[in-house]
Amino acid sequence: MIWTGLDIATAVTEALAKRPSSQPIYFLCSTDTESLCHELIHTAELGVDPKHIFTVPNGEIAKNLHTAETIFQWLQESGAMRNALLINVGGGALCDVGGFCAATYMRGITYWNIPTTLLAMVDASVGGKNGINLGHHKNYIGTFQQPERVFVSPHWLNTLPHTELLSGWAEVIKHGVLSGGKQFQQILKPIPAVTDHQTWSGILSWNIKVKSRIVEADFTEQGERKLLNVGHTIGHALESWSHDQQSPIAHGNAVAWGLVLETALACTCAEAPQETEALYHSLKQLVQSMYPPIKYGNMDIPSLMEYIRADKKNQDESLLFSLAFTPGNCKYNCEISAETVVQILQDHVDDGH
Ligand SMILES: NC(=O)c1ccc[n+]([C@@H]2O[C@H](COP(=O)([O-])OP(=O)(O)OC[C@H]3O[C@@H](n4cnc5c(N)ncnc54)[C@H](O)[C@@H]3O)[C@@H](O)[C@H]2O)c1
Repeated sequence: MIWTGLDIATAVTEALAKRPSSQPIYFLCSTDTESLCHELIHTAELGVDPKHIFTVPNGEIAKNLHTAETIFQWLQESGAMRNALLINVGGGALCDVGGFCAATYMRGITYWNIPTTLLAMVDASVGGKNGINLGHHKNYIGTFQQPERVFVSPHWLNTLPHTELLSGWAEVIKHGVLSGGKQFQQILKPIPAVTDHQTWSGILSWNIKVKSRIVEADFTEQGERKLLNVGHTIGHALESWSHDQQSPIAHGNAVAWGLVLETALACTCAEAPQETEALYHSLKQLVQSMYPPIKYGNMDIPSLMEYIRADKKNQDESLLFSLAFTPGNCKYNCEISAETVVQILQDHVDDGH
């Protein structure tokens, strides 16, 4: 059940009142969202035992086995049994590791997500995929388990740094490309001010609808859900490679450039209509105008290819991509040769970004 609105404290209080009174609540947050979590607990007058609140490091570094182990230990030491409810308050990384721990602790306890970044609101908190990284390989360990409830509020965007807003906007761009029509037109416009809650409520709602519709059709990603990976094969490779370089780039920044490069791949497909070129040029112009360039050189292409080859969507030796051909017309399982991928990566090095 996904709630969208402004008065999140009332919504959470009302939802908690509907659950069995014997169900203990546990809050998981990160250093950056600790104060937001306490504000929510205070405003909603929840009276939570401080031992039932646990803070993990911010961001991607928390998505590993070590952090998962600390969460399991905290749950165990504070007496959480199978009837426990875990409430994740944070960005996509926190929702991913929290969802993973909930799905596996005692073979699964109930969890709710309260996303606090744009990316988590429009994407990571919705759809029941969770996971942690294995080394620098993204989301290699995880499960599919839906959160029982998700509370999405533009209220949390007020404190979000602009770079994080931009990062989340990349998934909004992806959803606009997937759905086409009015939504595609919206992504070509500037990002609204975070104080414009009315416009944001509309944006959050349509994004959640786009994602939920695809997830409902194919929860365990046997087919259509792969469409949500548009831009992500190259995006994840850029992100993982940047971690190897010790200069991490934001997930959304990598996805934004991934969308551009993968649309260049779509242009090479025999079935691509003429309009694919136009989509490539408008995405490139849009991403160039909003996101910092990703600087990789020819020497980095073999490392990027290693990550692309390790993508979970590939089968046997074939490289399979989800590609956008025109707004609203995207396909999954598109086979592209390694030579073509290398060529497109090289073309974009030469292009100077
Ligand atoms: N499970 C899925 O379906 C799915 C989908 C898309 C992305 N993801 C994952 O989501 C992660 C990226 O999520 P993200 O972009 O939210 O990054 P993030 O979780 O790393 O958060 C970004 C930063 O913002 C801080 N932050 C969070 N909320 C804040 C707030 N309201 N005010 C100020 N600072 C705040 C965080 O502490 C962190 O430092 C990646 O690991 C990605 O793989 C998962």
